[in-house]
Amino acid sequence: MIKKEDFFKLLVAHCKEYGFIFPSSDIYDGLSAVYDYGQMGIELKNNIKQYWWREMVQYNENIVGIDSAIFMHPTIWKASGHVDAFNDPLIDNKDSKKRYRADVLIEDHIAKIEDKVNKEVEKAKKRFGDAFDEEKYKTTNERVMKYISEINDIKTKMTNALNDNDLAALRQLIVDLKIVCPISGTCNWTDVRQFNLMFSTQIGSVNEDASLLYLRPETAQGIFVNFLNVQKSGRMKIPFGIAQIGKAFRNEIVARQFIFRMREFEQMEMQFFCKPGTEIEWFKYWKEKRLKWHLALGMGEDNYRYHDHEKLAHYANAATDIEFKFPFGFKEVEGIHSRTDFDLSQHAKFSGKKIQYFDSETNESYVPYVIETSIGVDRMFLTVLSHAYTEETLTDGSTRTVLKFPPLLAPMKAAVLPLVKKDGLPEKAREIMDMLKYQYMCQYDEKDAIGKRYRRQDAIGTPYCITVDYQTLEDNTVTIRERDTMSQDRIAIDNIPSVIAQRMKL
Ligand code: GAP
Repeated sequence: MIKKEDFFKLLVAHCKEYGFIFPSSDIYDGLSAVYDYGQMGIELKNNIKQYWWREMVQYNENIVGIDSAIFMHPTIWKASGHVDAFNDPLIDNKDSKKRYRADVLIEDHIAKIEDKVNKEVEKAKKRFGDAFDEEKYKTTNERVMKYISEINDIKTKMTNALNDNDLAALRQLIVDLKIVCPISGTCNWTDVRQFNLMFSTQIGSVNEDASLLYLRPETAQGIFVNFLNVQKSGRMKIPFGIAQIGKAFRNEIVARQFIFRMREFEQMEMQFFCKPGTEIEWFKYWKEKRLKWHLALGMGEDNYRYHDHEKLAHYANAATDIEFKFPFGFKEVEGIHSRTDFDLSQHAKFSGKKIQYFDSETNESYVPYVIETSIGVDRMFLTVLSHAYTEETLTDGSTRTVLKFPPLLAPMKAAVLPLVKKDGLPEKAREIMDMLKYQYMCQYDEKDAIGKRYRRQDAIGTPYCITVDYQTLEDNTVTIRERDTMSQDRIAIDNIPSVIAQRMKL
């Protein structure tokens, strides 16, 4: 069992050693909260994007994809509310001079109380065995009830302070809860201030002509401003969706936990346009549908939960997060938001264009309502990676580090390995590699002893190792080794592609 505090150190080191993720500008000592994906990382990332695109665009006749530019007209961000309201409440500790997000300090405090609840529950589970009823325990055990009521009280106070933009109340809550700076250990806090998260740059070569641009903080606005283009050119009928995958940028002040919160990251967003009045029904539909997409990867139902928002963004009339149980606790991986007609109406107002949908069946025009599904590629990457990372002690006492990726997402689907580097085995293995590579990402490896090569494939999460041995030359069979169980079967060479497909449940 890896200790929580060691987990990230090990994961970050593993990602660098095996070509998943490197710090950006590594030879210049990196750039904070910016990362590069290496040769394995890009494969996993592409597979995640493909898994999303297939589900959202390919399987739905009424959802189409686009790829809008990162640079957009600056008025878009005024219209969307980002210039005025895309802020984080920040607070500094006067002793350590460290800056924090006030809401994150409070959330971390809540997480500590939640940890206490979980510990009590675990203890009781052990004590009561099969007869244990968690819900009943939480509503009857006095100590646990006290913790839960404390959590609810803090949440209410924080939500109210954020909703009312009452920064003094937010600071007071931090002081009242005796939250200290993790560096200085003191409670010597400044006032809370709002800080806009958008990066800005300039377009145009000469100072006088140059105008201020923002790097998009979400891909969604590129969809809204193309609503009419796509609807008209695609003759789309409501309800329909527009999806896109692309980079987004946020000047996160509290950037931490590896790729969980980055300054440059990628989003997979879909805006679903529907008739006003039907939005809550569609909100529920997408809420369920998106959770199913996560669960289908087989990373454990218990590792997911919904978190319905109490504090709604300025544009939303309902919102929920799908949270995943990361090593540092349950955190948001995807948001589903009912954005009303806010964005389209704002763009109509600021651009002076009429942005409406004409329903030819009812002969009426209206501004569609929108349900958004929004997930970070990198954050999804971290769910898959942190769930997959395992250190095992084997029966012979040796250890292995294995990435137990869902096979569908694994960077390499198979490795082709000649048992020895002589007697015609490499040539036979090359033939198999040439057959497989058109269908699957595969690696050929003939260097080092076979055991060492298996470990290398385990470390990058390859689900199947195909080994060519002397028997292969006699009867055209190979062994196929399963990554997780390490069990081996002998199969005919001709059957390799179909066996892989079957085992991957393709
Ligand atoms: N268009 C709505 C929107 O952007 P959001 O909740 O701010 O909503 C959506 O972001 C998703 O984008 C999050 O659930 C998360 O997966 C990802 N995300 C947001 N900020 C991120 C960051 N700084 N680094 C990595 N991923 C981030």
